[in-house]
Amino acid sequence: MTLLVRRFADADALAQAAADEIVAIATACIAARGSFSIALSGGSTPKRLHAALVARGRDAIDYTRVAFYWGDERGVPPDHPDSNYRMARETLLEPLGLAASSPVSDTQIHRMPTERADREQAAADYAARLPPALDLVLLGMGDDGHTLSLFPDTAALEEKTRLVVINDVPQKQTWRMTLTYPAVAAARRVRFLVAGADKAKVLAEVLEGPPLVYPSQRITARDLAWFVDDAAAAQLKEV
Ligand code: 6PG
Repeated sequence: MTLLVRRFADADALAQAAADEIVAIATACIAARGSFSIALSGGSTPKRLHAALVARGRDAIDYTRVAFYWGDERGVPPDHPDSNYRMARETLLEPLGLAASSPVSDTQIHRMPTERADREQAAADYAARLPPALDLVLLGMGDDGHTLSLFPDTAALEEKTRLVVINDVPQKQTWRMTLTYPAVAAARRVRFLVAGADKAKVLAEVLEGPPLVYPSQRITARDLAWFVDDAAAAQLKEV
């Protein structure tokens, strides 16, 4: 699999390019099949992307045809400061005027229900809500090479069949709900967005070092591309 790596001057240029690509992909999916499903990423990198999408306006995409999912969620309620859903609601959904007030809008916004007491059942129910193939999965990468909530040396790395699992993450003294490798492999497109000098060492090892060392290296996809900024790409030899 040849790796497509697109390099940008800084995090904002990366966000603008990613927003342009998402608008193009969404428009093509809606034209072809009448809908577009996207799994949003958590953490801080997506915030610039969300701002770029909001700046393009509510009419840039026919958002009435968009289904929002999450790639992973922290083990917190939806209104917790650490919630990936809350971050997306505040930086993307509400600024676009989408129905983000209700905790789970059945038709369009599919939040991971991490507040449910039966976590395993919640993960199974979320897997059942996923489409057979997400049109686009957005991924970030930590400085330990994790992606989604697939952290090094955690059980979810070995999941071969279930699409969504609960993953205990001892290095963060917490648990997460996360898509698994099979769920990402089923997606039509996958885009990593990686920015910042703190990712430079691990990005060089992930893209140019020995394979299958880091969780991010075990992501397989039908259509995979990396969006990286100069700071994160500083130790790459090839790009
Ligand atoms: C999360 C994310 C996680 C994130 C990376 C990068 O829940 O935190 O899903 O996988 O993408 O940790 O995070 P930053 O963008 O904040 O560097």
